[in-house]
Amino acid sequence: MKITQVEFMTSAVLPDQYPTENRPEIALSGRSNVGKSSLINCLVNRKNIARISSKPGKTQTINFFLVNESVVFADVPGYGFAKVSKKIRESWGKMMETYFTKRENLVSVVQIVDLRHPPSKDDQNMYQFLKHYQIPVIVAATKADKLPKSKWHKHLKVVKEVLQMDSSDALILFSAETKMGKEELLAEIQQRIGQ
Ligand code: GTP
Ligand code: MG
Repeated sequence: MKITQVEFMTSAVLPDQYPTENRPEIALSGRSNVGKSSLINCLVNRKNIARISSKPGKTQTINFFLVNESVVFADVPGYGFAKVSKKIRESWGKMMETYFTKRENLVSVVQIVDLRHPPSKDDQNMYQFLKHYQIPVIVAATKADKLPKSKWHKHLKVVKEVLQMDSSDALILFSAETKMGKEELLAEIQQRIGQ
């Protein structure tokens, strides 16, 4: 899949704000500050279409991007940000549950984890949640550039084990910084959407 065109569509909290056209959709999820927006920017060759922030919890709505006029990428707000109030956490949970359970054109979720650390409890819960609803998952282990190459294999193994990953789910070594894994991830996405 070669991305030649991308445009921001809309931000949404409630289902009636989601884009209505029935295009295949790929959602990107991960804990706050893991690098979701950076990964999207990397995939679509744009510096800052999905806003990058060093401040965790910046992305608070589901942001939809139209890619090649045919596929939608949905940047969902990060989880596991300890400093937000219980009320915000609850409304986040509701928003995510609604989105993941009701979005019929959702083809697959790219779950982003930090290669440097074993997946957190929140990462594990998210993965199990997606599995429970039988949503196909692609795990992207990002920030690989921050680890020496000699450690990649061992850390990938930890990610796989801690998440108790299904063998049918792809695990991709990624870096938004070096663009490592970009082509592999795009190929995986293309295969899932069948285009
Ligand atoms: P929220 O929207 O706040 O939940 O964050 P996010 O998951 O969208 O993360 P974002 O892309 O904003 O990145 C967070 C920080 O990590 C930024 O300072 C990025 O520059 C940095 N970052 C993201 N990906 C990589 C990567 O692959 N390598 C390195 N070295 N830094 C990265
Ligand atoms: Mg973001």
